[in-house]
Amino acid sequence: MSSSYWTRILLILNLSFVCLLSSATQVDYDANAIIINGERRVIFSGAIHYPRSTPQMWPDLIRKAKDGGLDAIETYIFWNAHEPQRHQYDFSGNLDFIKFFKLVQEAGLYAIIRIGPYVCSEWNYGGFPVWLHNIPGIQLRTNNEIYKNEMQIFTTKIVNMCKEANLFAPQGGPIILAQIENEYGNIMGPYKEAGKSYINWCAQMATSQNIGVPWIMCQQSDAPQPMINTCNGFYCDEFVPNNPKSPKMWTENWTGWFKKWGDKDPHRTPQDVSFAVARFFQAGGVLQNYYMYHGGTNFGRDAGGPFIITSYDYDAPLDEYGNLNQPKWGHLKQLHEAIKLGEKLLTSGNVTTKQFGNGVNLTTYSNTTSGERFCFLSNTNTSQDANVDLQQDGKYFVPAWSVSILHGCNKEVYNTAKVNTETTVMVKKPIELGTKLSWTWAQETIRDTLHGKGSFNAAKLIEQKEATSDVSDYLWYMTSIENMGTSSHNATLYVKSSGQVLHAYVNSKHIGSQFGYDFEFNQPAILRPGKNFLTLLSATVGLQNYGEFFDLGPEGLAGGPVELNVDGMASLNLSSNIWNYKVGLNGEAKRLYDPNSPHPQIWKSSKKLPIGKPMKWYRTSFKIPPGTSPVVVDLQGMGKGHAWVNGNSLGRYWPSQIADTNGCSDTCDYRGEYKPEKCVTNCGNPSQRWYHVPRSFLNDGTNTLILFEEMGGNPSHVSFQTVVAAAV
Ligand code: GAL
Repeated sequence: MSSSYWTRILLILNLSFVCLLSSATQVDYDANAIIINGERRVIFSGAIHYPRSTPQMWPDLIRKAKDGGLDAIETYIFWNAHEPQRHQYDFSGNLDFIKFFKLVQEAGLYAIIRIGPYVCSEWNYGGFPVWLHNIPGIQLRTNNEIYKNEMQIFTTKIVNMCKEANLFAPQGGPIILAQIENEYGNIMGPYKEAGKSYINWCAQMATSQNIGVPWIMCQQSDAPQPMINTCNGFYCDEFVPNNPKSPKMWTENWTGWFKKWGDKDPHRTPQDVSFAVARFFQAGGVLQNYYMYHGGTNFGRDAGGPFIITSYDYDAPLDEYGNLNQPKWGHLKQLHEAIKLGEKLLTSGNVTTKQFGNGVNLTTYSNTTSGERFCFLSNTNTSQDANVDLQQDGKYFVPAWSVSILHGCNKEVYNTAKVNTETTVMVKKPIELGTKLSWTWAQETIRDTLHGKGSFNAAKLIEQKEATSDVSDYLWYMTSIENMGTSSHNATLYVKSSGQVLHAYVNSKHIGSQFGYDFEFNQPAILRPGKNFLTLLSATVGLQNYGEFFDLGPEGLAGGPVELNVDGMASLNLSSNIWNYKVGLNGEAKRLYDPNSPHPQIWKSSKKLPIGKPMKWYRTSFKIPPGTSPVVVDLQGMGKGHAWVNGNSLGRYWPSQIADTNGCSDTCDYRGEYKPEKCVTNCGNPSQRWYHVPRSFLNDGTNTLILFEEMGGNPSHVSFQTVVAAAV
């Protein structure tokens, strides 16, 4: 090879080194702008949580976010997903957040990292690993040395990973802001002085990480400097940061809402979302983040709550599968373009407001030297439209609850209530598989637990998280009672459960099931002479994620009591009996959800399926036509359980949870303050019938769907469908 070849290579290497150095980005701010490399900016950002989609979906989601006019992508970091067991980390697959941020950067976007590491987010246990809760002496989210130490270790690990990958802006990376904690201000009161000390410590610990970009704290009106406090909500125009030098930032503009099992579908109109955004920038906003821009899916056991459903669609601008949710996506894209026309003036801080009465206001941003102007003309009246005469600047019709953006203050370029993006309706299209799905099934063997066999015991009813460390939804509580007499007795079993699901068996007979947050179970049972077995299976459906001391909320039978009321005798409190415990299902231990599990003989292929019977595994195989349309499995007819395709979890399913039949409407008045109950659809239907099967879970050959059915269902109605756009 010639020496000129090497000279050229060296030159290129050298140049790229210079490029790298010169791409270091300086992030500053003042009250009116985020200042990036000296340029005064307003920033549109959107939340896309990396574990709620797949790495194969990320580039497309990010591209659509960019096309939608976003400057930045925001995500939380999910501690319990990354550290399921203490000091055992997982950053693989859809947990590879470094790759996610690199893709964001490659797309030319900035990033906002919200480390938390408490994140709320309708995520299991708000993102805390349950082993953390089980460390003796720990108290979460307060001034407790053990907790603070663990929080610091995890935060530092994430920060160091970002630094090693050169992800912070001064290193040439995309990250321009970072968040510590999450809405602590909302629940801080009950933690008293310790809460105040804790949030001060959070600020100091975060600052000591030296990341070179500003730190934020959301919903923290007393945020210690230099933390910037930010706002979360449906509207944040009235928010004022606690330091007059801080920019006004909105970390969570809720584009819709989340759902629990049994809920209807919430919708927030594009008119109202854009109204809220326009009002925010009219009132001096600098950065706004959509929560969510893409909601996605709660795969595995990631859904929190309790009772948060598997879909986290959120009615976001990108739907669960990554399709444009139109007209929301397009209407917001136009809004971003319109506001960006005024970026220079908006960030200059030269502003005047004129009131016309009846909720009509004109806000003018201007440059007094050049004479350039940019205006927001808003009408916050909830019912009366306005005709506003701006004299030489023209006459404007401003519908109720809307904002007009006037370029040069004399040309309407956008009105939040005037939607001209076409509506797209996404429909589910059956996939022609040629033949019907054919099923095999397996019994979840429970003989051991029906006979009281566990792996440890205690003379009390242990709280579920403490017993399971949340490695499974399921915990068996088992005890026995001696009936000394010679005859059987009628009895009533009373169980006080702290949630969320209970299945009760006496002497191998299923006597009833119940679910709820906190409930009392009462069912008749027969006590035979001699030894009687009592087996209680408790299941969680996502751990609580919000509220003061939420982490201490008990799950499972947690102290009970459990009582037997035998006819004609005093009630028998069994709470301090010797209880045997077993964590999880035998099928989970045998990995029956994995098509390659070494137990093929377990699967029965009898023609007659055990329809409607609880505690069954079902298995089928299917082929998927080529193409790119998102694939879903329709689990109509199934009860409650968990689904896997080729060993990948699709999440929990519970289509037998039907939304209330009342309160839905096809029309929705965008005017007036939004709340999640305001515009709902899907009354009387399963709150979730279709479950996303990401294309990357599938192969061209034969695929395997495996269901664990806990309550009883009929798999013969299960089918695969694709999601396609339909004409309206
Ligand atoms: C906020 C929280 C988010 C999310 C949201 C509701 O309070 O910070 O993580 O839970 O509510 O979707």
